[in-house]
Amino acid sequence: MSDISRQKIKHQTGQYELLVGQGLLADIAKYLDSIGATGPIGIITNNTVNELYGATLRDSLKAAGLVTRTILIPDGEAYKTLASAEQVISALIAQGMERSGTIITLGGGVTTDLGGFVASILFRGVKLVHIPTTLLAMVDAAVGGKTGVNHSSGKNLIGSFYQPDLVLMDIDTLSSLDLRDRISGYAEMFKMGAIRDKEYLQFLFSNMDELLNSKPGDKLVKGISRSCALKAQIVEADEKEADLRRILNFGHTLGHALETTLGYGEIRHGEAVILGMYGAGWLSNQVGQLSNEEWEKLADMLGKIPLQLSLETVDPVAIEQATRLDKKVANSQLHFVLLKKIGEAHIQAGIPVLMIKLAVETLKNVWKDNT
Ligand SMILES: NC(=O)c1ccc[n+]([C@@H]2O[C@H](COP(=O)([O-])OP(=O)(O)OC[C@H]3O[C@@H](n4cnc5c(N)ncnc54)[C@H](O)[C@@H]3O)[C@@H](O)[C@H]2O)c1
Repeated sequence: MSDISRQKIKHQTGQYELLVGQGLLADIAKYLDSIGATGPIGIITNNTVNELYGATLRDSLKAAGLVTRTILIPDGEAYKTLASAEQVISALIAQGMERSGTIITLGGGVTTDLGGFVASILFRGVKLVHIPTTLLAMVDAAVGGKTGVNHSSGKNLIGSFYQPDLVLMDIDTLSSLDLRDRISGYAEMFKMGAIRDKEYLQFLFSNMDELLNSKPGDKLVKGISRSCALKAQIVEADEKEADLRRILNFGHTLGHALETTLGYGEIRHGEAVILGMYGAGWLSNQVGQLSNEEWEKLADMLGKIPLQLSLETVDPVAIEQATRLDKKVANSQLHFVLLKKIGEAHIQAGIPVLMIKLAVETLKNVWKDNT
């Protein structure tokens, strides 16, 4: 059994505890006690995760004498909507949820985003506990306080900043995750290393196989908790994304354009971010910021992540056009998160959108066909 990592995450109005370790689901009642969660508990999850881990969670809460209701949402990004949020709220109210109650989200980023949003608006805010069960939700969605749902005009257009009271990451739940979802989470950890901590990036690279296999142990705990700590530092300094927090978008400008062009079902968010980081690293080197030596190192690390996709059908012109629609574009120039060094990122204005096409052509040469 690995050690449990416990850290306090500070935010504008207080702090909460974030735990990473094994066997936490079965022990949840103990941790809920520490935040005074005694009222009705509403568990928001989906069918897939409920079948895998719902019973363990409920049994533990029941043994501690806590009353629970489980609200199931259908599985998939398509259900991260205002309509789903309203249905969840109606079900919670119908089942006796009270102002003093607690919402527990159990699932991936779709569930933590939707459930966090519901917690922020129901009775003007109830206690919130996140139990993320994908690697991406652990290192990204469940930390930072952004909640939200999609709108037909775009992703995450409706939402709130709402900090949880507790976050529990039980690494045992990762064993049932498929490889592409693990790679997607690894990408966000890699990003944190690339923008803030070179030594951590080296750790992630040296232990890539173990981390991608989600082998329970101290390395997985360290990989996840360090990434959360690095994100939390940035969020603490800039909770509402006025400035510094924007460096978290490293790899995301090109990544989003690839997701839009290829279609959300075709490429996982994190896979697109890996390609986006390659493009952003290449650009950083082209504009004379990242040294050749560091660029080669970064490119080598990214190239060794076992992405299972082919970029053969990707059209660099279509990606360039998708980028032009990005809100960061003005006068055909773009704000881009670039690296000065590995571990040091900044926002660079004035990058010509034309460079995007060249970056995509470079990507296509590297990822000809990995399927
Ligand atoms: N709030 C934020 O700051 C933030 C940051 C990053 C991403 N997000 C959001 O997160 C979402 C993506 O998250 P995701 O990749 O976790 O997607 P997801 O929630 O759709 O989960 C991916 C799939 O894995 C399944 N699953 C979850 N846990 C599992 C487990 N332990 N074993 C087996 N299957 C499991 C889910 O049912 C789903 O089918 C997007 O909506 C994105 O916008 C939010």
